[in-house]
Amino acid sequence: MGSFQEIVSWVGSEWKLVITIALVFIIYCLTKRDRRISKYLENVPGPPTIPLLGNVLSLLCPSYARKWRGRRKMLTPTFHFKILEEFSVIFNEQADVFTETLKQKADGKPFNIFPFVARCALDIICGMYIYIINSQIFRYWGHDTTSANMAWTILMLSFHENQRHQKLVQAELDGIFGDDKNPNITSSDVSKMKYLDYCIKETLRLLPRITVAISSYLLHRDPNVFPKPEVFDPMRFSPENSVGRNPFAYVPFSAGPRNCIGQRFALLEEKIVLSKLFMNYNFQSVQKWEDVKMVSEIVIRPYDGINVKVTKRNCLK
Ligand code: HEM
Repeated sequence: MGSFQEIVSWVGSEWKLVITIALVFIIYCLTKRDRRISKYLENVPGPPTIPLLGNVLSLLCPSYARKWRGRRKMLTPTFHFKILEEFSVIFNEQADVFTETLKQKADGKPFNIFPFVARCALDIICGMYIYIINSQIFRYWGHDTTSANMAWTILMLSFHENQRHQKLVQAELDGIFGDDKNPNITSSDVSKMKYLDYCIKETLRLLPRITVAISSYLLHRDPNVFPKPEVFDPMRFSPENSVGRNPFAYVPFSAGPRNCIGQRFALLEEKIVLSKLFMNYNFQSVQKWEDVKMVSEIVIRPYDGINVKVTKRNCLK
C-alpha cells in the first residue's frame, strides 16, 4: 500500500472512470432513438455529419456562407427604394386590372377572391422579372407570399367584427386621395397609409409565413407580448403601442442577415393593391374567423379559399 496521497489519487481516478462510463451509458441510452432516426436520414442528401454533433460544425466554418453572401450582395440593389419606386408603375397597373376585374363580381354574391389576388400578385412578379430580365433572381420568390397575405388581409377586414377597421382604412384612403378612385399611387402616398400598414402587420402577426426552425405562428401569439392574441387589433402596431417590444417577438419576414430581402417590395405592393381595392369596394366575409381552416405549406393558405361578398363603394371613374 502506498502513501495516503497515492490512495486518494487512486480512488479519485477510479471515480472518474466510473463517472465517465456512467455518462457514456446515459448518452448511449438518450441517443438511441436519434440513432434509429439517423439511420433513415442517411438516405437524405446533405452535408457530412459526425456522431452526437451532427453537421453543426459546418455552421462554424466561415467559408460556409460564401455562395449565399455573394448572391445576396448581387440581389440587394434590386430592392433599393429608388428601384422600388420604378416597380410602383407595375404595382399600379396590375392593381388597376384587378380593381376593374372585380367590377363583374361586385354584385353582393359570395365568391372565392383568392384566385383573383393570386393572379394579380403573379402578374406583378412576372412584370418585375421582365423588368429585370437579365438578373439572376429566387424564379417564383415573392408571389405566393404576397398573394396569401393580401388575401388574408382582405378576409381579416371583411369579418363582421372587423368592419370598423375596414371603415378606418377607407377613411384614411379618402383623406389621401379624395374623390380620385383610380390614382397613380406613389411611395410618398403609401407612406401616409398608416392604418393600412397596421392592418397588414396585424394580419402578418396572425398568419405569418411558416419556417421550419421557429414557429412564428406561436411566437406571434405570446399573450405576454400580444395580449388577447387571437383578436385582430391593428393598433398593436401604432408607434406608442410598439414601444419596448422585443424586435425578435414579431418576425414575419424573419430576422438577421438572412431575413427577407423582398420585405419592402412586398409591403409596397400590398399597400398599392389593397388601397385600390378598399378605395373602390366594401368587403364582407361569409365565414367566421373561428371557422377558417388553414393549410400550413411554406406559406399559410386558406383551405376553402377566401369567401367574401363584394359591393361597389362609389362609382369607378
Ligand atoms: C408578405 C410577403 C413575404 C413574406 C411574409 C416573406 C417572408 C420571408 C421569410 C420569413 C424569409 C426567411 C426564410 C428563411 O429563413 O427560411 C424570407 C426570405 C426571402 N424572401 Fe421573402 N417574404 C415575402 C415576400 C417576398 C418578396 C415579394 C420577395 C421578392 C420579390 C421575397 C424574396 C425573398 C428572398 C430572396 C429570401 C431569401 C433571403 C436570403 O436567404 O438571403 N420575399 N421571406
